[in-house]
Amino acid sequence: MIRYTDSLHGLEPSHVDGIFDGWGWPNPPDSRTLLRVLEGSYRFWLAVDSESNQVLGFINAVSDGVLSAYIPLLKVRDTHQRRGIGRELADRMLASLDHLYMIDLICEPDVQPFYEKAGMMPVHGMALRHYENQGGAVT
Ligand SMILES: CC(C)(COP(=O)(O)OP(=O)(O)OC[C@H]1O[C@@H](n2cnc3c(N)ncnc32)[C@H](O)[C@@H]1OP(=O)(O)O)[C@@H](O)C(=O)NCCC(=O)NCCS
Repeated sequence: MIRYTDSLHGLEPSHVDGIFDGWGWPNPPDSRTLLRVLEGSYRFWLAVDSESNQVLGFINAVSDGVLSAYIPLLKVRDTHQRRGIGRELADRMLASLDHLYMIDLICEPDVQPFYEKAGMMPVHGMALRHYENQGGAVT
């Protein structure tokens, strides 16, 4: 059974271990850093295995809370993809943000059909990446 939650209650770093596997990030955030990312987010949703408490997928958003939001991360464990989890997470996040005007994200072209099915449209954008900070800023 999968439960969807926007709470970190009962969650330990070990429950998100390995969740970035298979995405091709050479230096992904470690589990504690990912929990900090979720804590610092405006909204997040998790798909959790009810028995093991393992997080199977997550999505987060940062926002000014007035006009705009940005969705930096959506990841479903490779072992659980193509079962509707990503769509459920995206739908829940977009519903959580529907009081705002701009909801943006960046993705590879091959993932655009996934987001189009969730009601989003392709746009042009610009980005800067400090790859040395991919694992999280040192604070
Ligand atoms: C992209 C991702 C989140 C999709 O999650 P998922 O749980 O596998 O997707 P779902 O099973 O909910 O798929 C929902 C629909 O999108 C389609 N879809 C899923 N992944 C897709 C992809 N990569 N490209 C095109 N369509 C895709 C599914 O076929 C399904 O279509 P249907 O409703 O017509 O059956 C997941 O593949 C993932 O974590 N990828 C690596 C990280 C990533 O690329 N994240 C997005 C970057 S912002």
